[in-house]
Amino acid sequence: LKYFKHKGALIDNYLLPEQIVGKLNDIKKFEFKKTDCICSSFPKSGTTLIQEIVYLIQTNFDYDSAKQIDISERYSFLEWPTTNLKKLSLNSNEKTRFFKTHLPPKFFNETFPKAKVVYAYRNPKDVTVSYFHFLRSINIELKYSGPWNQFVQSFLIDEVYYGPWWKHVNDYHALNDQIFFVSYEDLLTNFRPTVRRLAAYLGKEKELTDEQLDKLEKWCSFDSMKNNSRVNYNWMKEWGFTNKNFSFLRKGVIGDWLNSFDVDQSRQYDTMVSSRISSSIPPFNYGI
Ligand code: PPS
Repeated sequence: LKYFKHKGALIDNYLLPEQIVGKLNDIKKFEFKKTDCICSSFPKSGTTLIQEIVYLIQTNFDYDSAKQIDISERYSFLEWPTTNLKKLSLNSNEKTRFFKTHLPPKFFNETFPKAKVVYAYRNPKDVTVSYFHFLRSINIELKYSGPWNQFVQSFLIDEVYYGPWWKHVNDYHALNDQIFFVSYEDLLTNFRPTVRRLAAYLGKEKELTDEQLDKLEKWCSFDSMKNNSRVNYNWMKEWGFTNKNFSFLRKGVIGDWLNSFDVDQSRQYDTMVSSRISSSIPPFNYGI
């Protein structure tokens, strides 16, 4: 993996180091507003799913624009090289600005938790499987071509992009009273109550109706999103950024790690979680 270390986190180095430092400095200076919505996560933890949910709740279910505009255009990916932070700063009208990021919270200034921040996390074994398949199927510089066990070991020694994973989760959890901290597994198994709490966090005064939740749950189901070209990132394949078998929405289940982890790898993850993850974080749902 090609990476660059900044503030203790590994950043993917698709840019020249001096360009990344400039970008990260600009991000540190970026002023968020309380009307902003930021979907944050460690990669492969349910970012896209939570983005679609947040977008729809926040726009009072504007399915028309969700159908018309790709999710990568509805959201500004803060650390993406082409994201123009200066232009975004100038956009000072009161409309919600939607942001996606995988950066840890210390990359931002004190205005960050004043915005609506929704942090999605997922059990680390499934994160690793999903990340491995993703990095193996891309063609760009960031790709990973090594074997599975080596990737697992890289994850455990914190050498994957945006790692250390456990620090990412702990640092966001420390902001728990200001942000919405939600697990991928809760979104999959407990959609309605979770989304009701999310809507309340986003400031929706009226409780969502059963009809609204029904439609949203169907819209955000794995099959529906997999077939929705506005959220399935198929354009990555069409543009040649990935190999032909690429599927961003790959399996979308809890517990796929059981097909890849051996007993020893699984034990190493359990040790990492028990020694590194804050005890105030609820136990992860591994699907067993
Ligand atoms: S990224 O690149 O970091 O933004 O990726 P991210 O969206 O965080 O994670 C991709 C994984 O989320 C799964 N996913 C879903 N699962 C269930 N239902 C829905 N609607 C859904 N949308 C995305 C996706 O399949 C990836 O997980 P894996 O395990 O690889 O299938």
